[in-house]
Amino acid sequence: MALQPARFYVDDRPEEGVFRVHRDVYHSPELFELEMKYIFERTWNFLTLESQIPKANDYITTFIGRTPVVVTRDAKGQLHGFLNACRHKGATVCRLEKGNAKFHVCLYHGWAYDPTGKNVSIKQREVADYPAAFDADNHDLIPLGKLDSYRGLVFGSLSPDVPPLLDHLGDLKFFIDLHMDQGPNGMEAIPGRVAYTYRGNWKMQLENGQDPYHVDTAHGSFMAISERRRKGQGNVAAPQLDWQKRNEVQIGAYEFPYGHTSVWHDVAEPERRPTFATIEEIKTRVGAVHAEWMLKQRNAVFFPNLQIADQIVPILRTFRPISAGVTELRSMVLGPIGESDDLRATRLRQFEDFVNPGGYATPDDITVFADCQVGFGATGVDFLQGYSRGLGVMEQGANEEAREVGLHPLTSVKGHRTQNTELGTHAPFREWVRLMEAGAAGKKAYE
Ligand code: FES
Ligand SMILES: [Fe+2]
Repeated sequence: MALQPARFYVDDRPEEGVFRVHRDVYHSPELFELEMKYIFERTWNFLTLESQIPKANDYITTFIGRTPVVVTRDAKGQLHGFLNACRHKGATVCRLEKGNAKFHVCLYHGWAYDPTGKNVSIKQREVADYPAAFDADNHDLIPLGKLDSYRGLVFGSLSPDVPPLLDHLGDLKFFIDLHMDQGPNGMEAIPGRVAYTYRGNWKMQLENGQDPYHVDTAHGSFMAISERRRKGQGNVAAPQLDWQKRNEVQIGAYEFPYGHTSVWHDVAEPERRPTFATIEEIKTRVGAVHAEWMLKQRNAVFFPNLQIADQIVPILRTFRPISAGVTELRSMVLGPIGESDDLRATRLRQFEDFVNPGGYATPDDITVFADCQVGFGATGVDFLQGYSRGLGVMEQGANEEAREVGLHPLTSVKGHRTQNTELGTHAPFREWVRLMEAGAAGKKAYE
């Protein structure tokens, strides 16, 4: 199908109770190209945690869309972000995922840069017979358009024309705070690395975190295992969640500006949450209401590339689009700095049990993503219908829960757990349309 204007693909008619998304949004290589140009390359993206590069000269490599990026900490402790591409012939200068180096020397012809991005050596420069114009040129690594951080989460933008980070985050700061306030001395990314690719569009993972509806079917085998463990079979040291209890709580979702969103569940088994052991201490720092929110299961999305999730344990998951049908995912699990060995071990076992590619949930999810991606090949299917649960009781603005903690969502929804709201997907798709339209019209992404 020839490309249509962006709003064709998201059939968004709130006054008529209609919200549908065309399957090409997940499937079309042409739309994927435009997403890279008009979304990823023109807005803030999550890059890393400051605690991943704590020491002078530490660095970490990542991507904004398809653009390789390196984030460094210089000798004075200052953070910098650059395109990870040599000025000579374009090779990636930093080839490892992470490291510590006073100088970054390009493997190809040996040009070298310091952690501030300054070019400090052009191999055999003095015998090169370079013309004056070359000497007058700048040879430093190209800095990102913007780099900033909030509570240790580092964000960057290729374009300088973005709102200040704190304005852009808006109420998402509340959900970041709920992660980062869980330890009296702050939180750290627990060492280790989880990275994998799946055969599905990047928005599949983004949506999956906003999709409580899939849990009892896609993860049915995990529920059955939990049930057997509760009866004393199998690995009884592993978490034994009572999924029936989880069906008795309230659920809700908020839509925020700039495509950010969050779904939440009231907590069914607070004693199984890793924060429970220290909840009294947490209350003294953040108050009873915020402490209660920490116990709730939450899954917030920073559009376009980060999940700030606390379903089992607090994690950050970032997705890197590779093609319309392939995505790389990296996860970090967070724990309080100075946490006891016992609590740390429980936290890690909970993480591994559910979230990891070697755990019980992630393989289910990436299997169904691949199934969807195959199904999107069915040319007879146009608009998908999985975006409407909860729409009948959606409220404009903040509901009672949001007002209690000072949130200002655009819309709120709440219901019995089995409502399984799908409204957490609306904000990302509305922002998708906004940014794709602005790009196609030759307008700035942000006025
Ligand atoms: S490409 Fe880096 S030195 Fe030539
Ligand atoms: Fe899942």
